[in-house]
Amino acid sequence: MNFDLDGRTAFVTGAARGQGRRHAITLAQHGANIVAIDLCGQIDTVPYSMSTPEDLAETVQLVESTGRKIIAKQGDVRDFEQVQATVDEAFAAFGRIDIVVANAGTNGLGGAGGAGPFESQDIDLQRWRDCIDTNLTGVFNTIKAAVPAMISGERGGSIIATSSTAGIRGLRSMADYVAAKHGVVGLCRAFANELAEHSIRVNTVHPTGVATQMVENPELPAFFQAYPKAAVNLDGNLLPVDLVQPEDVSNAVLFLASDAARYVTGLEMTVDAGFTARA
Ligand SMILES: NC(=O)c1ccc[n+]([C@@H]2O[C@H](COP(=O)([O-])OP(=O)(O)OC[C@H]3O[C@@H](n4cnc5c(N)ncnc54)[C@H](O)[C@@H]3O)[C@@H](O)[C@H]2O)c1
Repeated sequence: MNFDLDGRTAFVTGAARGQGRRHAITLAQHGANIVAIDLCGQIDTVPYSMSTPEDLAETVQLVESTGRKIIAKQGDVRDFEQVQATVDEAFAAFGRIDIVVANAGTNGLGGAGGAGPFESQDIDLQRWRDCIDTNLTGVFNTIKAAVPAMISGERGGSIIATSSTAGIRGLRSMADYVAAKHGVVGLCRAFANELAEHSIRVNTVHPTGVATQMVENPELPAFFQAYPKAAVNLDGNLLPVDLVQPEDVSNAVLFLASDAARYVTGLEMTVDAGFTARA
């Protein structure tokens, strides 16, 4: 299969750590130059520690060690102007945008002893706004900012947005996240229709739990201990694995980014150990 991305430019959001960092490294290993953006800061309604500027600097070093170039910016996908400025700088430097990985995301689930809502009806309005702003509006901002550069290149392209099993199933105690991740599917279906005439493909990836700080943090076990009903969110993988690794998702992203998937668009690709197929 042809996974060669030599000479292409990939824009990856949420690239300071976790899956986004792994996607950036994987795409660079296959020849792409990288444009990265990450908040590198905290959102108050997110119960776990988010990334830091040092995390983003480490991503830069790891991508550069592949021999490819990277432009990395501290910025917020909730803010269209910041996303557009990053895309513009990358387009000026690299002359093209071929691949977009709209990966930045947050999850407000967590906290024990009343710190977090136990059911979706308890989600406070600020947590709802923050979750939709990053996980759905952030994806829209990312695609909107990058598409004109992709179209102007007349080479087609590939957009991959990170959804979740929560973009397919109504997972418990996180209706904000479920709504945002379902919204990402609708958004990408619409863009798949509208961008096909430019040979720009638009797909979503749907991981089950991934071993990153979004789930590997002290807040989450405390929440599930305090509210065992929500443990259905955890108990769904068919294959004998609790959490998949970031590289398992990167493999799907690489496939969708590459010419091996040249006629794949509008797909919801699960990397979920069978979670959404459970009887
Ligand atoms: N970890 C899981 O179990 C899991 C499962 C399914 C889907 N996902 C999704 O995968 C994606 C990556 O998450 P991860 O597991 O790598 O978690 P992570 O917390 O390690 O990484 C997310 C990155 O996104 C960045 N980010 C968050 N909000 C941002 C904003 N407003 N602007 C710019 N950057 C922002 C964070 O700073 C962080 O570096 C997310 O969309 C998440 O919802 C995660």
